[in-house]
Amino acid sequence: MEKLKSLKPLNLFEYEQLAPKYLSQMALDYYASGAWDEVTLQDNRAAFARFKLRPRVLVDVSQRNLATAVLNQPLQIPMLIAPMAFQCLANPLGEVATAAAAASAGVGMVLSTLSTKTIEEVSAVRHDTNLYAPQWFQLYIHKDRGLTRALVERAYATGYKALCITVDAPILGRRERDKRNEFTLPPGMELANFINLSGLNIPHEEGESGLFTYVAQQLNPAVTWDDLEWFQSLCPLPLVLKGILRGDDAARAVECGAKAIVVSNHGGRQLDGAIASVDALAEVVDAVGDRAEVLLDGGIRRGTDILKALALGAKAVLVGRPVLWGLAVAGQAGVAHVIDILRDELDVAMALSGCSSLEHLDSSLLFCEKHRFA
Ligand code: FNR
Ligand code: LAC
Repeated sequence: MEKLKSLKPLNLFEYEQLAPKYLSQMALDYYASGAWDEVTLQDNRAAFARFKLRPRVLVDVSQRNLATAVLNQPLQIPMLIAPMAFQCLANPLGEVATAAAAASAGVGMVLSTLSTKTIEEVSAVRHDTNLYAPQWFQLYIHKDRGLTRALVERAYATGYKALCITVDAPILGRRERDKRNEFTLPPGMELANFINLSGLNIPHEEGESGLFTYVAQQLNPAVTWDDLEWFQSLCPLPLVLKGILRGDDAARAVECGAKAIVVSNHGGRQLDGAIASVDALAEVVDAVGDRAEVLLDGGIRRGTDILKALALGAKAVLVGRPVLWGLAVAGQAGVAHVIDILRDELDVAMALSGCSSLEHLDSSLLFCEKHRFA
């Protein structure tokens, strides 16, 4: 906390500016990168700016309630930490520090399959805090079905509350900085969940991103809608599909049993040129109706972004890179501060928009030159 007092980052952009001092070039590039020209990465931000707010006045906003629930699981603010691989690159406590900050703020956390702390280590954090905050497990589908099944069973056994399957990464997007850096994990850092299973790890390869190679070799690009039944048979957890950008895919996901959908382009890291996630949100919300819950990630940097996503019909948002910047700058305290900044910004944005509760949000709060919602 001392460090935060002297650095005084005021907002998430200032965390982003501070983070490079605390990261190796390889880690910084891996965290920050988008695919190819990073057009989608930038558009995730630009798209939020295209939506303007239409505040209501003379509403009693003296009491504001930021709490909600997703899949009937309570959240103190409508936010989860997005699944992100390799958090020990930012801080030795990695995903454990992130989970502790999330749990004490009552914010959900989605743990990546490719974590540098184990499923069990991260779940243990929950027992050390009084506040309830759900943890979900993000699944990368490996070619080895036994290994995939073992991951799901471990997550279920240790109290994760949803299975979040990422569906936008049959292979890895091309992040050119990672290829140039020949991205790999530093000595001593491993794919924690696989240490006792099969010794899988990120290779070092000349002229290539080791992660690109890992995904090409280990993940299954042949998975289709027909396979979802198998995943559902593995455990009774609700299924969440992450990485959907079209109404027809969202409708199909619901028909296949998904209880929630994350509208996402993977933070611009997969298909460059893909639509900004917030631009895809209304179509997905329309297609899903009240049959499932819709979440969004990509480019959330201000409380007003959360307000806009919720006004478009998202139940909550996932936050990615800013959490890594907080983790790099000040570990658990940095992540806690990033969450706190977003909470405070959302609170102020609600008051100034004439919203006392998230339930009152709808698209009449928005004006967009392209689509008129009012
Ligand atoms: C990711 N993301 C990701 N998604 C996923 O399903 N499994 C994963 O392991 C990872 N790993 C990962 C690592 C890093 C460094 C980043 C930046 C992102 C994507 C992530 O969950 C989310 O979709 C985006 O990060 C959201 O965009 P913002 O908030 O970073 O703009
Ligand atoms: C990434 C993967 C691991 O975006 O999802 O780097």
